[in-house]
Amino acid sequence: MNATAIAHPNIALVKYWGKRNRELNLPAVPSLSVTLAPFETRTSVEWGTDTDRFEINGTVAHGDAADRVARFLDLIDGARPPVSITSTNNFPTAAGLASSSSAFAALALAATKAAGQSPTLTQLSTLARQGSGSASRSLWGGFVTWSLGARPDGTDSHGHAIAPQSHWDLRVLVALVSDEKKAVSSREGMNRTQETSPLFAGWVESGPSDVTEAEEAVRSRDLERLGTVMEHSTMKMVGTMFSAQPAVVYMKPATVAVLHTVTALRSQGIGAWATMDAGPNVKVLTTSDDASRVEAALREHVQTVHTLHVGGPAYLV
Ligand code: DP6
Repeated sequence: MNATAIAHPNIALVKYWGKRNRELNLPAVPSLSVTLAPFETRTSVEWGTDTDRFEINGTVAHGDAADRVARFLDLIDGARPPVSITSTNNFPTAAGLASSSSAFAALALAATKAAGQSPTLTQLSTLARQGSGSASRSLWGGFVTWSLGARPDGTDSHGHAIAPQSHWDLRVLVALVSDEKKAVSSREGMNRTQETSPLFAGWVESGPSDVTEAEEAVRSRDLERLGTVMEHSTMKMVGTMFSAQPAVVYMKPATVAVLHTVTALRSQGIGAWATMDAGPNVKVLTTSDDASRVEAALREHVQTVHTLHVGGPAYLV
């Protein structure tokens, strides 16, 4: 059977960094994200062809990338037939956003449908998590918490919708510092950090209360409260990276310049807060009213700024 699905990427406002179970991809901390549009991944799946074939953004995947997709499909049906996948992003892969979040969310939705299954969103999120952790948060629109869960099999570690797209009309500006492929993947960076940073225990211990704080800030639409906990979560994560052995340093000089600019904007009364992920690019959370002033300030340091708004849920086409 054939099916096509569309999913938006998300960025974490409270970060996922570290795993308590690598095989099941269970997180060391809970996290909270916002789903972002108009960026999206569109994935078509043909379940039952001659041979596995995975075409991602016009290139056929081989090696590790193909193995990762094949293993993911095996989770849907261990006795599956060969599968053909065509997946495209409507945004540059080097746009400074984790495309694996929308990729595995769209694939989970399209592939289960093509396989004749009808999972719930929660089951899809649990499945997507095993492809890439952040993908567990891209099934829903708006604001999503990925819970830690307690069960050893991971069936209770999945996304929970906190507030829909319509709840809050925020903007996220992506300041593109670099579009080079990063030397250390997020998966490798988080594993090294977990194994070697003496700060990692503090990171894990302080994670859950950040999610509680962010959930309350989202529910009450309190941007200052949300931005403050987002920056705190980001800087704690970056602190564990810096203190890894050897250190995991994604920042470039322009990253630091943008961070200072965001702080300066706040001192001028503009509501803007910064976050980063496993890369040098900075994402700035702000209001629709302040977005153009923030964009102008970011353009003093970077050429490309993407302005994104809160996106909706993944869906079948
Ligand atoms: C820094 O979801 O890419 O973006 O589960 O190993 O595939 P895997 O990792 P991934 O990690 C994302 C890390 C982050 C923070 C976040 O999105 O929460």
